[in-house]
Amino acid sequence: MRTIETTSFAAASLILYASASPVIYNSNSTIELQSYSMKETLGWTRPTFPELYHTCNETNNRMLNAAFQDSLEATAYAKSRLLEYGSDDFTYKRWFGNGSIYTVMGVLDNLMEASKDGVLIRCDDADGLCAANPGYYAGHHRETAPMETVICDYFYTSKKPLSMFCFEGAIVDVGPKHYAGIDMLHRYLHIPTINGEGYIGEYAEELEEIVELAESNSTFAVRNVDNYLYYIADVYGSSVTPSGCLGTL
Ligand SMILES: *[C@@H]1O[C@H](CO)[C@@H](O)[C@H](O)[C@H]1NC(C)=O
Ligand SMILES: *[C@@H]1O[C@H](CO)[C@@H](O)[C@H](O)[C@H]1NC(C)=O
Ligand SMILES: *[C@@H]1O[C@H](CO)[C@@H](O)[C@H](O)[C@H]1NC(C)=O
Ligand SMILES: *[C@@H]1O[C@H](CO)[C@@H](O)[C@H](O)[C@H]1NC(C)=O
Repeated sequence: MRTIETTSFAAASLILYASASPVIYNSNSTIELQSYSMKETLGWTRPTFPELYHTCNETNNRMLNAAFQDSLEATAYAKSRLLEYGSDDFTYKRWFGNGSIYTVMGVLDNLMEASKDGVLIRCDDADGLCAANPGYYAGHHRETAPMETVICDYFYTSKKPLSMFCFEGAIVDVGPKHYAGIDMLHRYLHIPTINGEGYIGEYAEELEEIVELAESNSTFAVRNVDNYLYYIADVYGSSVTPSGCLGTL
């Protein structure tokens, strides 16, 4: 029951900010937007993407582009939920406490639609850290070139598409970064021009600390990368199955 509600609410809300045309506000728009692909592509009006460096080959590019699309879809659900339920929502409170919804909304907008000029994704293990951390590093931010992210080969085998959401285990067990599209958001947030020169950062990464920030330090909950990742995953899970697949906190 709740799945249907969530799906139709998401489809209806997404279209409202997906297009400037007033035509879409008719009462038939929800019905027209039931298909998965419509929801996926209509979530953001002007999404921006990093540049894929020439060291990424055709198959790398396919998987990275799929991850970018997953990022758009997952964040579109989150934005939809923010617009629909606001900050009194129990899911909001779980990850952001009484933190400002304007910060959260702004971070999502900025992540997806602000210019990504100069943001580069490369596939060449430029610093040798992929080889040094086999089966562990899926990628890394480059300290020596802050606009650049290296994607390791391990990314392609370890990170999963959103179509596998809730299939691979509870979110608290696999972690939000298990999913390529949500992992990609965390990589975006390492880039200074995207994270507001460090305004958004990795202040807490353990689940217990993340929940603790929401409960008692919401000023930092809305500035902490992992609070966003868990919120986005939690919301997305509830669109997959009525009870979601967060697991036990
Ligand atoms: C939906 O659209 C159809 C055709 O465009 C129209 O005949 C019908 O009245 C509309 N339904 C509603 C509820 O607006
Ligand atoms: C692209 O690179 C990956 C390693 O990142 C390699 O496994 C794959 O075979 C390459 N694909 C093509 C088409 O060359
Ligand atoms: C909130 O968290 C930040 C980042 O961990 C920390 O620097 C700050 O001291 C915390 N504030 C309180 C009141 O605990
Ligand atoms: C937010 O919650 C914290 C912790 O419960 C509390 O100290 C603070 O006063 C609250 N802030 C607002 C603006 O309600």
